[in-house]
Amino acid sequence: MSANVIELVNVRRYFVVGDYIVKALDGVSLSIPRGSFMSIMGPSGSGKSTMMNLIGCLDTPTSGFIKVGSEYTNNMNESQLAELRNRKIGFVFQQFNLLGKLSALENVMTPLLYAGLGPRERRRRAEELLEKVGLKDRMKHLPSELSGGQKQRVAIARALVNNPDILLADEPTGALDSRTGEQIMELFETLNSEGRTVVFVTHDRSLGMRCRSQVHMIDGRIVEVR
Ligand SMILES: Nc1ncnc2c1ncn2[C@@H]1O[C@H](COP(=O)(O)OP(=O)(O)O)[C@@H](O)[C@H]1O
Ligand SMILES: [Mg+2]
Repeated sequence: MSANVIELVNVRRYFVVGDYIVKALDGVSLSIPRGSFMSIMGPSGSGKSTMMNLIGCLDTPTSGFIKVGSEYTNNMNESQLAELRNRKIGFVFQQFNLLGKLSALENVMTPLLYAGLGPRERRRRAEELLEKVGLKDRMKHLPSELSGGQKQRVAIARALVNNPDILLADEPTGALDSRTGEQIMELFETLNSEGRTVVFVTHDRSLGMRCRSQVHMIDGRIVEVR
């Protein structure tokens, strides 16, 4: 097993917008050791989401290398990347991104459709995760019947259901009030104390400072790692 769950080596991500180039990431190198609890901070537009999307294999770099576990992703095609993502990465978004017509339980079961498990095992596994995030009594509810904090818990359960090597969250508390955000933070702390690698973007300095490692970004670059 590699010591680093993720390695970025001199990664750039440029976007062409009309007749100019946006250097969203401009040469970023970062190692994320297994078991890390890492926050990513920086002003709006500094490249945090771009970097998270690359770490999560939702996007591919303009140049540089990305290694997930022992696998370099550079030469992977779309379906290989999707397979790697499904197997190794759990991703949580600010706006939850739940499927509105599916219950909490069905939302959490969705990623397991590709895991080669039977329906009973899929259900058992999803129930276990929902219980873990404190939603044992909300499994049949639709997202519209849940509070923001509960929706984010469903999204976290869904992100964990394939037992990923890393949980990534892009401003997971950004749409929540501070008390609810605190509860999500405590859930991350628990998950990390159980050995899960957790990396999240936050605007909230007091949350970010609670992480053992803190990455600060400005203008597409990492300016400080603590
Ligand atoms: N798909 C895109 N097309 C063009 N520009 C983009 C795209 N995604 C991000 N950017 C630009 O890249 C920069 C970094 O964006 P982003 O990573 O979303 O920053 P952050 O998450 O730190 O707010 C910004 O200038 C943004 O406008
Ligand atoms: Mg962002």
